[in-house]
Amino acid sequence: MLKIRIPHFILLTIVLFTTVVIGNILALPPVAEAAGFMGHKKKKGCTKCHKQQYKSWKKMRHAKAMKTLMPGEFAEEKIKAKLDPDKNYIKDKKCLKCHTTGLDKGGYSVGNKKKMRSFYAVGCEECHGKGKKYQKVKNKYEQDDFPRDEVIKAGMKYGEKEVCEKCHNDDSPFNAALDPKYAFDYKKMLKKGTHKHFRLKKHSPRKGSEWLYED
Ligand code: HEC
Ligand code: HEC
Ligand code: HEC
Ligand code: HEC
Repeated sequence: MLKIRIPHFILLTIVLFTTVVIGNILALPPVAEAAGFMGHKKKKGCTKCHKQQYKSWKKMRHAKAMKTLMPGEFAEEKIKAKLDPDKNYIKDKKCLKCHTTGLDKGGYSVGNKKKMRSFYAVGCEECHGKGKKYQKVKNKYEQDDFPRDEVIKAGMKYGEKEVCEKCHNDDSPFNAALDPKYAFDYKKMLKKGTHKHFRLKKHSPRKGSEWLYED
């Protein structure tokens, strides 16, 4: 019988390589890598089609909202808010409801690695609504000229004041009573807190939001 011998060092390399790759896939990064796409398994996530917004979002505080829950991060601020600076709050649902995307509502779910990767930190769908329905509307228009009222009817949001106030409110340990600097001034926070805005090809800026754009 023909016996193929594979040298040990090659086997070892393969094993090591696989371990590293799988390890990387399973390990959660301190800063979010992927922004999710609720409900869709095979379709592309938001980040694939909106690369510029994604690149800009990734640099902002919202994308780093999980790192903040780790020990040693914002130690002084945590002490001031009577939180334990050495504690790891990364699995504490009391914190996760505002520091992740769609906690237990089809989004982030402690223990589900795939969802934990996709809905890590404050991602796209916290401000734009669950993609599941409005993506179907977008897909229907091959020229990408979907009417806004149709996507809005299907749940598209545009970071309206109420959307932000779901998290920027008095239930946060860092609220205006702790320090007035945490008071939420919508207009001021809008430019500071969202990604940079880039003009779309088929849709002009929504009325009243022109000032957000770079050019
Ligand atoms: C398959 C590609 C694709 C995916 C995936 C995708 N989008 Fe879009 N999106 C588009 C296109 C195309 C437009 C319209 C672009 C234009 O006007 O030129 C658009 C427009 C938008 C707009 C602007 C709508 C308006 O009325 O101005 C927002 C906000 C948006 N997408 C958010 C998202 C979010 C959040 C996700 C993930 C849930 C997502 N998109 C996933 C292709 C995509
Ligand atoms: C799902 C909850 C959630 C929503 C929705 C949300 N935020 Fe935040 N936001 C946070 C968290 C958590 C942080 C702190 C991030 C960190 O850990 O550094 C934050 C931080 C910020 C910061 C940085 C704070 C600073 O002083 O630099 C700005 C600005 C901001 N958000 C604006 C907004 C605006 C504007 C909206 C709505 C368009 C919004 N946020 C929606 C949870 C949220
Ligand atoms: C109701 C929503 C909410 C909850 C619950 C919440 N956070 Fe946050 N957190 C926020 C928001 C919003 C900010 C950004 C505040 C700002 O800078 O204006 C924030 C900011 C922070 C910051 C940074 C503070 C700073 O000075 O920049 C830390 C640290 C933090 N949160 C830790 C936690 C921990 C730990 C928990 C759970 C014990 C928690 N948060 C629960 C909404 C929340
Ligand atoms: C903190 C809230 C927030 C988050 C998180 C967020 N966006 Fe936005 N996004 C906005 C706001 C506000 C606008 C401007 C809406 C308006 O008034 O038309 C916007 C606009 C857009 C637009 C229209 C074009 C533009 O550049 O303004 C696209 C596309 C978009 N977002 C995609 C994304 C994607 C993809 C992600 C995740 C990587 C994301 N957004 C995360 C708040 C957010």
